[in-house]
Amino acid sequence: MEIDYARIGRLMTLSKGRSHDPYERFEWPARIPDDQPWCSNDLLTTYGTPLQAQLDAAQQIRLSKWEAVNFFSLNVHGIKGVLNFVSRCIYEERYADVSEYLHVFMGEENFHMWYFAKACLDYAGKIYPSIQLQGDAQASTPELGDLYMFASTLIFEEFVDYYNHKVGTTDGITEILKQINYQHHVDESRHVSFGREMVPRLYRLALERADDPDAIRAEVSHTVTNMFRYFISLMYNPAVYADAQVYEPLGFRNGNAMRNALRSHPARKAVHEQWFKRSAAYFTKQGLVTDLNLAAL
Ligand SMILES: [Fe+2]
Ligand SMILES: [Fe+2]
Repeated sequence: MEIDYARIGRLMTLSKGRSHDPYERFEWPARIPDDQPWCSNDLLTTYGTPLQAQLDAAQQIRLSKWEAVNFFSLNVHGIKGVLNFVSRCIYEERYADVSEYLHVFMGEENFHMWYFAKACLDYAGKIYPSIQLQGDAQASTPELGDLYMFASTLIFEEFVDYYNHKVGTTDGITEILKQINYQHHVDESRHVSFGREMVPRLYRLALERADDPDAIRAEVSHTVTNMFRYFISLMYNPAVYADAQVYEPLGFRNGNAMRNALRSHPARKAVHEQWFKRSAAYFTKQGLVTDLNLAAL
């Protein structure tokens, strides 16, 4: 399978050139002041809806805090899954040519998991449990199982990067949060590049080995579309609205009711499109999805 080894080589050089002691990378303050936002207001899940203007400044800051904890927690759980997968397959024949890079990748993800978990625990006292809104994508062949793992990792990395990049480059955000988000954005730009090499390679492999390539194409399109739907849903965590103490002032019975209202709000569809459009364009161009309509998810 042809992949761009020059690109993988550049990613390795970049990773190694940037190596620093991860555990000395940040200065961790004892706490984050209650009057400091954790992200800009356009990243809140109320953004675009009339509910946003009904929140006062303190409520918006609390929402920004708990939504950040949600994002960081999603990273912790996502990384656990991908490390588990990579450590199982790293020495298998089909990954022999990228196994060295996979070592670098695992090292970086271990570091990410550490700082996201630490930020959650030190500044908010908890990591949200992982929510399984659907079973893991069921693959009909082993090749497809690998493809789904790399595809969902790639979608997830670009999903989170939209947030990390914005927070990491926004003035007025507490330094430690800005730094964490920025550092993750920088590392993930390499992972996204790697994922964009691996996904088409695994897709070609799955099609070559298929008895019925059209059935595989249909299965992949369906599964990948569901991945986008799943990641959009993960933005809206009922526990966040409860911890931020915002559902009641906004007139909702509980966090779930607020979550459902926001998840399906027409104004949020435009946000989903904006947030995921780069990823959707890539997967469409590679032929993994057909007719992906983000606004309908
Ligand atoms: Fe990461
Ligand atoms: Fe990553």
